[in-house]
Amino acid sequence: MTRNEAMEILSIWVRSPSLRTHMYTVATAMEWYAKHTGQDADRWWITGLLHDMDYEKYPTVGPLGHPYQAVAFLKDKGIDDEMSDAILGHASQVPRETRMAKTLFAVDELCGFIVAVALIKPSKKLADVDVQSVTKRLKEKRFAANVSREDIYQGAEELGVPLEEHIGHVIAALQEQASAWGL
Ligand SMILES: [Fe+2]
Repeated sequence: MTRNEAMEILSIWVRSPSLRTHMYTVATAMEWYAKHTGQDADRWWITGLLHDMDYEKYPTVGPLGHPYQAVAFLKDKGIDDEMSDAILGHASQVPRETRMAKTLFAVDELCGFIVAVALIKPSKKLADVDVQSVTKRLKEKRFAANVSREDIYQGAEELGVPLEEHIGHVIAALQEQASAWGL
């Protein structure tokens, strides 16, 4: 699968602008980690981009819903086991065994959280987000309450990257592409 094919799938399956932005931010963070750990940037980007492709049509998590519907569709399109297991691993009991799976889980909720922190800045820009502002907000339970802190902490731990370092990587990744999302 090419990046263009992945973007076409996204454009057909996902209408919500905020979900689309979320998927692009996760793709970007995945690409950053691929490039910095000697992995295949295209495959990691595509996996990040499509991880929530079925969420609008199948918002319920489970074998008949998210993310199994995405994986069934994508397997028909020829994605490999590493990619499909990573997508399953971010929102099911499928174990996260590969670097790709661990990274997807570690960046997913964090990308949403970093965007939420950007949106409360007067500028509403990612350029004004730093590690300190993210760690401070993580401790505020009422801020972006729908974002699981547990998943963010567990994700960094599974990845084996200290939390603040990990947050810094994801901020840096997203800032590089921020203008594409109007952030
Ligand atoms: Fe996600």
